[in-house]
Amino acid sequence: MTKPKILVTRLMPPNVEKRIARDYDAITNPGDDKMTAEQIIEASDGKDGVLCCGGDPMNADTMSRLPDSVKIVSTYSVGFEHVDVEAARSRGIVCTNTPDVLNDATADVAMLCLLGAARRASEADRFLRSGQWKVWHSTLLLGVHLGGKRLGIYGMGRIGRCVAQRARAFGMSIHYHNRSRLSPDLELDATYHETPESLLGVSDFLSINAPSSSSTVKFLNAERIALMPDGAVVANTARGELVDDDALIAALKSGKVSFAGLDVFAGEPKLDPRYCELENTLLLPHIGSASDSTRDDMGFCCLNNMDAFFAGKPTLNPL
Ligand code: DGY
Repeated sequence: MTKPKILVTRLMPPNVEKRIARDYDAITNPGDDKMTAEQIIEASDGKDGVLCCGGDPMNADTMSRLPDSVKIVSTYSVGFEHVDVEAARSRGIVCTNTPDVLNDATADVAMLCLLGAARRASEADRFLRSGQWKVWHSTLLLGVHLGGKRLGIYGMGRIGRCVAQRARAFGMSIHYHNRSRLSPDLELDATYHETPESLLGVSDFLSINAPSSSSTVKFLNAERIALMPDGAVVANTARGELVDDDALIAALKSGKVSFAGLDVFAGEPKLDPRYCELENTLLLPHIGSASDSTRDDMGFCCLNNMDAFFAGKPTLNPL
């Protein structure tokens, strides 16, 4: 049987590359340079599918110019704001993503951001490495205690619920806002807030876990930050676009927000340079899903979707 022809826009982990080589006639990207829309369109010539990644320009224009041979676009990410699903649908192209497999890894990094920011991990590391640690004292690098505090989760989907599960073990009480209230078996002991404003009013700590969309862009703005308890801690492992950088930076400078742990940034890999000048930030290069097994599982999820599609079966994670 001939193997389906696919384009893989970025280098995949070795186990995923192996399975691609076994089951597909693939153009891969060993150099791992980010491909432009033109390059993706050109390299898709004669291909049956495209395995793309977060940030690849799979917008309406690209979708409209993909060769007719392309029937499936499978993104190696749960977020799909870079994929114009409607434009793909109008060309009869099926799109899939990778939900679930990265819930735990991303929730782990949300906790890393909350805990690492509040306990000044990044600043403490810099302090030690730069030879400033001369003597222990009782107020050295005091941070904010997590236990007994209220954690507001903005976006209580699969990842948000995994964050809640972890935060409970730290002794935090869980509050959330979501488009709709969860069923009791998913909500557990968490308190639902009908509006983001109500959630922010009780968020000693805030974890942002909602997808990027026209209704969530700049969700955390100056007006909403003003509603938060003084000295709140903010973590973002969703998308940078959900934060108004001017507002958060001003709040970090004034102390209204005491610490922020950020794994994602608007316009990344570029980020507002002012974040790097602030001692009270923990900054990570979008590593939420970057654990060894998770990155394999994301690749396998893309391939499971493609396998199903090319076998004439329904895809597992259609968008
Ligand atoms: C995702 O899957 O959307 C993560 O942000 C990694 O890109």
